[in-house]
Amino acid sequence: MLQQTLVLIKPDGVERGLIGEIVKRFEQRGLKIVGMKMVHVDNSLAGKHYTESIAEKHGKRVRDYLTNYLTSGPVIAIIIQGSSAISIVRKIVGSTYPGEADIGTIRGDYTHASKEYVKKNNQGHNLIHASENEEDAKKELSLWFSIDEIHEYKLSHEEHIY
Ligand code: CDP
Ligand code: MG
Repeated sequence: MLQQTLVLIKPDGVERGLIGEIVKRFEQRGLKIVGMKMVHVDNSLAGKHYTESIAEKHGKRVRDYLTNYLTSGPVIAIIIQGSSAISIVRKIVGSTYPGEADIGTIRGDYTHASKEYVKKNNQGHNLIHASENEEDAKKELSLWFSIDEIHEYKLSHEEHIY
């Protein structure tokens, strides 16, 4: 099924100069970028992105930490489109805790903090966010992009991939 999903290169990814490396991973898989911009996130947007549900999942401390982290520097917001794009992008991104992420994933190739370290220090600098499911993708896309910022075009390799 053709899907669109939201990817954010978080402030650590931008500050480490990894924008190109990260974008390349999606392009080389044949996925299509249909929206992209640099955003300096304010508290309101960070709070809407990391909603109460993240506090329910990981605790209030993690939510506070996350909103501070996301507003600490510019973020690159990207819409990626493709067949089953939501789960494929999650696979390319890798596991939440850097030390558990497989080699070959973005998190596994560029980060390594253990789960214990992340939980103790609230240092979830794992470079990137990707929508988890269709419902989240829909909400997040409308939060980060307006309709006129989404661009339809044909990739030259589409006929080979599909
Ligand atoms: O980003 P992902 O969907 O893999 O994980 P999540 O469970 O939705 O958590 C969102 C983000 O919270 C993670 O990407 C980490 O940056 C951060 N996090 C954290 O800092 N400390 C934790 N104990 C758990 C998550
Ligand atoms: Mg998540």
